[in-house]
Amino acid sequence: MNDKLFQERIDAEKKIEPKDWMPEDYRKHLIRQISQHAHSEVIGMQPEGNWISRAPSLRAKMILLAKVQDEAGHGLYLYSACETLGISREELVKQLHDGKAKYSSIFNYPTLSWADMGAIGWLVDGAAIVNQVSLQRTSYGPYARGMVKICKEESFHQRQGYEIMAEMAKGTPEQKAMAQDALNRFWWPSIMMFGPQDSDSPRTGNAMKWKIKRQFNDELRQNFIDQTVGQAEVIELIIPDKDLKWNQQREHYDFGEMDWVEFWSVVNGNGPCNKQRLDHHKKAHDEGEWVRNAAKAYAKKQELVAN
Ligand code: 3HC
Repeated sequence: MNDKLFQERIDAEKKIEPKDWMPEDYRKHLIRQISQHAHSEVIGMQPEGNWISRAPSLRAKMILLAKVQDEAGHGLYLYSACETLGISREELVKQLHDGKAKYSSIFNYPTLSWADMGAIGWLVDGAAIVNQVSLQRTSYGPYARGMVKICKEESFHQRQGYEIMAEMAKGTPEQKAMAQDALNRFWWPSIMMFGPQDSDSPRTGNAMKWKIKRQFNDELRQNFIDQTVGQAEVIELIIPDKDLKWNQQREHYDFGEMDWVEFWSVVNGNGPCNKQRLDHHKKAHDEGEWVRNAAKAYAKKQELVAN
């Protein structure tokens, strides 16, 4: 097998499996993307986890608990998919702690009110669904199969967030103002989840050639905006973009220029909560060492008993 035959397999829509030959750059690209995806799922538990003890009702608490637990599971699926590429969980976590691996910029913004739980479910999980539905067709088998499972759970995440926003938008004036404030703060960071413009995207070329990604960053961003504007109108919230306007010719919404200075600043570690998120992850990882050691000791004992 060689690069040319490998590319022919990709072009023929054949899934690449862990034991298949693959170019080293394909393997490395996948490790980057899948590990950052996994880190995003786990770090993403923090902004929502902060509100579990402050949920306004038992029902709201149970829903948020279930969602945060789902995200942990999504992280585990993705770390497992990444490990099939020959890298250990320990190494993946070390790359995160050493700042060598990224996670989605969106999770570096603070969650200031209960309405933020609605905005995250509606917008962040909504954006993740657009991105992840496309990734169900990614060329790497374990990643594609993980996406199918994750997408099934994401729709619940998006619906529960939209329900929170709809309830608050038709509530008291204070509740509606809280929901609008959350939309104002989360709208632009949510559309930044789709990455830089394709013209500025150093990885998209290979990602598309190897069918790791099936759609361009800008195309996915546009799809998300087109589907979300109507949802905001139904609950009478206003999207904070004065240039947002339906373009009949394009049959898409035109939208304003994103703040790419903010985007790259947050991506490169200088967002409002980057340090807080990583410090929390490091502390939790250190505190959980005894659990990992106990699990390893148990597995070793089982191995001895079995042999
Ligand atoms: N946040 C953090 N880093 C980002 C980013 C963002 N919004 N957008 C781009 N980047 C990083 C890329 O990872 C890449 O970094 P690297 O070179 O160190 O690997 C660099 O900026 C250049 O960006 P590119 O556009 O060239 O990179 P990609 O082509 O990989 O596109 C991506 C970036 C769209 C994030 C793509 O990697 C992707 O689709 N990843 C899989 C999906 C994913 O990770 N989603 C994150 C959210 S998961 C989530 O929301 C959980 C849900 O349950 C709430």
